[in-house]
This record gives sequence, structure tokens and C-alpha cells, in this order.
Amino acid sequence: MHDDLSSDPAGDAVGDAPGARAVPWWQTATGYQVYPRSFCDSDGDGIGDIPGITSKLDHLADLGIGFIWLSPVYASPMADNGYDIADYRAIAPEFGTLDDFDRLVAEAKARGIGIVMDLVVNHSSSEHAWFRSACQGRDAPFHDYYIWRDPAPDGGPPDGRRAAFGGSAWSFVAEVGQYYLHLFSPAQPDLNWQNPGLRAEIWDMMRWWLARGIAGFRMDVISLIGKDVDGGIDEEGPYLHGFLQEMHREVLAGRDLVSIGESWSVSPETALMYCGRDRHELDMVFQFAHVKEGWDPVHGKFRPKPFDLVAFKRVMFDWQAVMTNDGWNSLFLTNHDLPRQVSKYGDDGEYRVRSAKALATLLHLMKGTPFVYQGEEIGMTNATFTAISQFRDLEILGHHAESVAAGMSEAEFIAGANVNGRDNTRTPMQWTDAPGAGFTAGTPWIDINDNHVRINVAADRADPDGVFAHYRRLIALRREKRVISHGALTPWHEPHPQVMVYTRDLDGERVTMIANVSGEEVRFAPDPALVAQGVCLVHNVAPRDAVTSDLALAPWEAFALLSRADGTTPLAA
Ligand code: GLC
Repeated sequence: MHDDLSSDPAGDAVGDAPGARAVPWWQTATGYQVYPRSFCDSDGDGIGDIPGITSKLDHLADLGIGFIWLSPVYASPMADNGYDIADYRAIAPEFGTLDDFDRLVAEAKARGIGIVMDLVVNHSSSEHAWFRSACQGRDAPFHDYYIWRDPAPDGGPPDGRRAAFGGSAWSFVAEVGQYYLHLFSPAQPDLNWQNPGLRAEIWDMMRWWLARGIAGFRMDVISLIGKDVDGGIDEEGPYLHGFLQEMHREVLAGRDLVSIGESWSVSPETALMYCGRDRHELDMVFQFAHVKEGWDPVHGKFRPKPFDLVAFKRVMFDWQAVMTNDGWNSLFLTNHDLPRQVSKYGDDGEYRVRSAKALATLLHLMKGTPFVYQGEEIGMTNATFTAISQFRDLEILGHHAESVAAGMSEAEFIAGANVNGRDNTRTPMQWTDAPGAGFTAGTPWIDINDNHVRINVAADRADPDGVFAHYRRLIALRREKRVISHGALTPWHEPHPQVMVYTRDLDGERVTMIANVSGEEVRFAPDPALVAQGVCLVHNVAPRDAVTSDLALAPWEAFALLSRADGTTPLAA
């Protein structure tokens, strides 16, 4: 939190260099998201598990990350792969035991890595004991932990709200004679945050996990908890910030942890309400404006739009500007709900390695905390499924029927799911070229991408010019160079349709990042104020020791130059 100043996610506070302003550890750290089901299967059941994650910690320590965001490992019927929790204080048997979890925390800590838990509290699973009780009748003990409304006069749902995974957001329970609200699937009933008893349970549960030594929370769809059901406001409702401030007071304050809230609706106008330093709510938010740029405004994600660099830059730079003096950005292109970035924004063919590095460079040198999604560090690509039977995600399956009924062809829907669907990032981590990709000795729960014979951790790490080596360099730069973690960002050449340029400045040092975000060679004349001599910090084609007034950038070339603010070479990089 902002009020806790130390520099070690694993909890052993380390002082900052004398004279330097202490900064929270998560401002110089890089996060890494593990999707447990698909990371590493230690027991051959085809499903990744916690001992599997522990067995791969050295890979992550070598990469240099500061913390793992662990997607849910709680007991769950797995309707939404764990984003439907049946017991907030138990581990799903397919993932292991609490002992396995404690061992993961300890082993990670020994490597300087914190474990950040996914906190999924907008809704529980319909299998949670609270919900089972709630369905027994209006006087049942936990009835009011959920959101119930009477049927409309015709007996139908109370209103026309749609669920994110298809269908109405209301389901009827005959024993109660009412409908319950579920903004995702019927298996994910929304919790009633108006109930102070529920909130107290959640604060208690959070403290219970913190006592196990975790480094913080990533908060699933947190901007939905303050909804005004009858007013029809779900996102960023009137109670949201009061609840987050209560959470801060009750749980987060005074602890050395990181808190990251997911919000699909947060805008530059509302961002600082979550993470402004005087708000006492969260450290940062995951925002999705850059992601939504890639969706059709009417038909959504299953009808993708081509990548538009100018729009992308506008969004990213707007967010940088908002956080110039307050708040903090999260930086990511991929997560378990999004396509693989090298396929979505880069080139997963001829220039796969180079474009993967270019995207990493342009993202990691901005101000904020970067997040790497498992497999991104070796340039893993989207899957190309050909039949609906290969998909596992309930969002894809839920929308399939609706989209086809609305006139979209099967082929167009599958093509859209291959571009923007959530199963792309959920295919197993590719460790080796072996038949189970080093992920499993059994039958994987979802198909492994055939390209694991070429694209895998063993092959990439054996290559000094591999994607992994590039990520390792970027992650180390953020830890080591204050101009990268904290320098002021200035955008340049914003209207240029192929090139992304920004500078970072701090204490007389300047980093200039230039990336050709296209598969063509680009002749580019940088603004005279950018012309400089310097030291190349990172590159993906060949080192450069200057920004000259006329640059010939190779396809997907990206580099960063460290210079003095006056354009001369620094004494030491
Ligand atoms: C978040 C999660 C997503 C999940 C949804 C409902 O957006 O990232 O995977 O399906 O919330 O919990």
C-alpha cells in the first residue's frame, strides 16, 4: 500500500539506497500471472497443480519477477475454472492441499517472490454453503448473502439484465419464489455486499490468507461490488468506494502488500478514485480500454477489429498522463481472459520472436507495474481450434449458441473465438517439445498447441537471443534503473501509424524508447529534440548508440537508448 514503504514482496523489508526516496516494492517489481490449471501438472491427471507451480519457481526466479498473481486455486466446481468459489478457505483437490500452498508460499519467498491471491468476491459459486443455505427459503441464515428479487408481473425475470456469459442475469429458485442475480453465469451468484455480515466474513477471510504469508490480492471484477441493483447500476456503483475504503481500514492498512483491482469500466476520469494516494483504497487497477479497442462496438469481442496503433497509443498514453503525479498504472497486454499478445498485436509467423520482444519493450519501459502472463516470456501464440468441441471456456460456449442464433456463421464465430476468445491463453504452458509439452504426462484438459514442438521454454531459454532473455533484461532494468520505474513519461509522434515513441526522464537521465509496430521497414525522422547519443539498454535487432535524425527501422525493431537529458552519452549505463 502507499503507506507502507519497503522493497521486498517476500516480506523481509530491505532498506532503500541512502538518500533515495523509499518506494513500495511493487513499483520496481514485475508480476507474473500463473493460471494454475494450465501451468504444470505434477501428478499426470491432465490438470496443472500447486506442486507443479512450485517445481517451476526457479524458471520464474531466473526471469526476475517479484510476485506471482495466482489465478484462483480455491475449492470450486470449476464452472469458470475457479472464478466460482465454493469454499474460500480450502484448496481445490485437483490443485493440491493447503500444505502444498504453504510450501509454495515458502519456496517462493525463499526466491524473493511474493504470492498474490486472486480474490473473487463479487460472486461465489452456487455450490458455496452460503448459497445452498440461501436457497432454502427467505428465512434461511445466509439468504441475505445473495441478491434476490421478485419476479416481474408476468413471472419472468425482474429486469432485462444480461449475464456476461450469455442469457438473463437472473435465475429463479422455486423454494424461495424469487430470482437471484448472477452477472456472470448461473453458477456464479452475486454476493450481497449491502450485508455487513457478509463484508465482515470477507475481511476475515482476507486476513486469514494474509496470515499465511501472501503478498497481496488481485481483486476480480471488483468494480461490480458497489452495485445499485434497483437503480440498474452494476459497474462502479454508488457503494463501491465506501466498500473499498472499509476493506482498506479493516484489512489492507498498515500491511506490506500489493492490491490490484480489476475493472472493465474504470476510465481515466475514475481511475484515481481507486488508487489516488489520499483515497486509501487500492494500489492500482487493471483497466481494459486498450483491449476494448480491439472489439467490434456492436458485436463485441467475437467480431474483432484490426489493430489500430494510433488508438492504442492514445489509450496507453492517456493512462500514463492520468497517473503522472498520483496513482499507479498496471501494464499488461495479455491475461487469462485475453488472446496471446504476439498473435493479437504482433506477428506470430515470420516475426514472432522479434515482435514478441518489440511488444515487451514498448510495454515494460512505461511507468507502472508490468505483468507477464505465463508463456508470454517465450512468445507463445494463440491456439487455432477448428471445432467448437475443442473449446472449454463457458463464455465462448455461452455465446456460441446466441451468436449463431443471431445469424453469425459457425465459421465466423470460431474465427472470432480464435482471435479474441479466452481459451487462447488457457492452452497448457509449453515447457518442452515432448508429447505432453512437459506440462503433463497424462491427457491435458484442453488441447496443447501443436507448435510446442518449436515454441517451448527449453528451446527459447537455450537461445541467448530468445524471448526469455529479452524479458529477463527488461525486468532487471526496471529493478535497477529508477528512470524506468519512476521517470516522467513523454509521448512523441502520437499520430504516426507505425511507430511508437516515448521518453522517460528522471534526474538528468533520459530513456528513449522507439518501436516499429509493423512488419514493414519504416524510414522515420524523429523530432530534433529526440536526437541523442547514448547507450543501448535493450534491442531486438542490433544495438544502437544513437537516435539519429533519420532512422531506418527494420520490421518490428524496438530499442531503448539511455542518454543524458542534454542528448549526450551517460558515463555509465
Ligand atoms: C474476471 C475474471 C474472469 C472471470 C470473471 C468472473 O473477469 O478475470 O476470468 O470469468 O471475472 O469471475
